[in-house]
Amino acid sequence: MTAAKTFLITGASSGIGAQFAKSYAARGHHLILVARRLERLQALAAEITAQQGVTVTCLDADLSDRSQTNALLDRLKALNLQPDGLINNAGYSLAHTFAATTAQQQVDFIEVCVTAPTILAHGLLPHMLAQGAGRIINVSSMVAFSPGATGHTLYPAAKAYMLKFSRSLAAEAAAKGVHVTALCPGSTESEFQHSNGMDAVLKTNPARFVQTAEAVVEAAIRANEAGREVIVTGLINKIAVAAMTLLPDGLITPLIRWGAQKYQIKE
Ligand SMILES: NC(=O)c1ccc[n+]([C@@H]2O[C@H](COP(=O)([O-])OP(=O)(O)OC[C@H]3O[C@@H](n4cnc5c(N)ncnc54)[C@H](OP(=O)(O)O)[C@@H]3O)[C@@H](O)[C@H]2O)c1
Repeated sequence: MTAAKTFLITGASSGIGAQFAKSYAARGHHLILVARRLERLQALAAEITAQQGVTVTCLDADLSDRSQTNALLDRLKALNLQPDGLINNAGYSLAHTFAATTAQQQVDFIEVCVTAPTILAHGLLPHMLAQGAGRIINVSSMVAFSPGATGHTLYPAAKAYMLKFSRSLAAEAAAKGVHVTALCPGSTESEFQHSNGMDAVLKTNPARFVQTAEAVVEAAIRANEAGREVIVTGLINKIAVAAMTLLPDGLITPLIRWGAQKYQIKE
């Protein structure tokens, strides 16, 4: 995409989302940044506009609240903003076991990680199709390929949804100029472990297993621009996904569940 376009990025107040904002601004694109922490978005917008001559709009929304997700689409219309690209990035995880959480916590998680991306893609796609061009990146995870483990119970399911949703939408929309990519990173520098209450885990991860948000985002943008439906970032993560996909279930499942134990918050 050479001409300046407008990208809406959810979860832009930190980590991978904030990096998407910086990387698209560096390419000359305008931004709509969405998250709950408006002051964080505004600080990032000030930093970006001081460096790049792009327009940045900040919109606060709690995507666990369906009415706020729907209202976000109305706010875009009221501001006459029609994004050419959507980065469905906002997300987190619940590190406890299913039984140790409330049903409301799990429903809120589904709302942020599954329902809001679906509503936003559905609301923004018609403009992209009408103009015959558009970009959607759905942030999934290498965990989309995992057999599941204790803790983070719905996380692999939600990320598998993002992967499969992306592939089906890509099949429907690519011929009409809208390119959809599922981004599947592994462990990435961000506030993810902090917001999941797992700072201690990140410190124990060998540095070679952790990618920078910049490396992840640059790979995602390149993959999307090349029309790729799925990108697993980083060599170690690609090897892990190949193992999860190709090795017999009886071998890979105990291995993954043993390795994932440290990521669970014990009750
Ligand atoms: N870091 C990793 O190792 C890793 C690996 C694979 C996939 N991912 C995925 O990457 C995506 C970004 O995560 P990250 O690593 O960059 O973590 P992060 O630094 O914690 O960022 C998460 C973002 O999501 C937003 N968010 C959370 N709940 C929200 C809500 N209810 N409404 C609106 N926005 C909300 C947060 O903004 P506010 O708190 O301001 O609302 C924040 O901007 C997530 O989908 C995550 O699952 C991360």
